[in-house]
Amino acid sequence: MDKWVGKIAVVTGASSGIGAAIVKDLAQHGLTVIGLARRAEKIDEIAAEVSSVPGKIYSCKCDIGDLDSIKAAFKWIEEKFQKVHILVNNAGLAFVGTVLNPSDEETEKLNKVINVNFTGLVHTTRQAFRLMQVADDYGMIINISSIVDSVIPFPSTSTVYAPTKHAVRALTEIIRQELVVGNNDKIKVSNLSPGVVRTNFGQAAGIPNAEEFYKSIPGLQGADISQGVIYLLSTPHNVNVTQLTIKPVGEKF
Ligand SMILES: NC(=O)c1ccc[n+]([C@@H]2O[C@H](COP(=O)([O-])OP(=O)(O)OC[C@H]3O[C@@H](n4cnc5c(N)ncnc54)[C@H](OP(=O)(O)O)[C@@H]3O)[C@@H](O)[C@H]2O)c1
Repeated sequence: MDKWVGKIAVVTGASSGIGAAIVKDLAQHGLTVIGLARRAEKIDEIAAEVSSVPGKIYSCKCDIGDLDSIKAAFKWIEEKFQKVHILVNNAGLAFVGTVLNPSDEETEKLNKVINVNFTGLVHTTRQAFRLMQVADDYGMIINISSIVDSVIPFPSTSTVYAPTKHAVRALTEIIRQELVVGNNDKIKVSNLSPGVVRTNFGQAAGIPNAEEFYKSIPGLQGADISQGVIYLLSTPHNVNVTQLTIKPVGEKF
């Protein structure tokens, strides 16, 4: 990780779970980390918790489901840091429901999942890539997808969640190929697909008794996924691990 010391990383969904673990680990490895989330104050709390690490954590309030909010966040990043080397697209959510329910309430939830998990990820990637070009240095984009980008174990919490993750996985390969066509051999991109991770995700999705449910099946910690991110970043610049799947031992799907 020495090659990334002092470089600038942006992590979306940094206020909780996997994203919180990633910002801590990147700062521990000496990076300057900008965490994006709606609850920016939670990122400030994380920064205060690990204030003695070699790197530094900054927070930036951003709704990844809102293009104007994304543009404003990257404008702030550009003004303060000028460039970006690493983007971890981690923000995401799901909800319990059905695609075929035509209610306005369900429409709102479906749109939110699509806008945050996929549309927002497209735009954070485009904004970060612009600032990676300013950096004119090695760079990396890591998309935190899910094992549901290739299997669908829970239809009731999947709704459009699994399709957005399929789209993220496909987009990762599109970006890789665009970089190849553009003769860009300094920036690489990976898709990371976690199995079940014991975070606030299930509760936020409205899974009944989420905590008990997550305890009843094999599960990882946010730090396990963060270690996957560190592994992807640790590979030599000419090595692109394009797909990393991390499951807890014993996961049934
Ligand atoms: N937990 C699992 O079992 C699991 C498995 C596979 C993949 N994943 C993926 O891992 C990623 C992180 O999830 P997690 O498990 O760490 O869940 P989590 O603890 O609920 O954290 C979700 C993060 O996403 C952010 N987020 C949600 N909506 C947002 C919005 N509109 N704008 C900005 N940020 C938003 C949240 O920040 P704010 O609420 O502060 O905005 C929070 O930081 C997600 O992409 C998820 O799909 C999770």
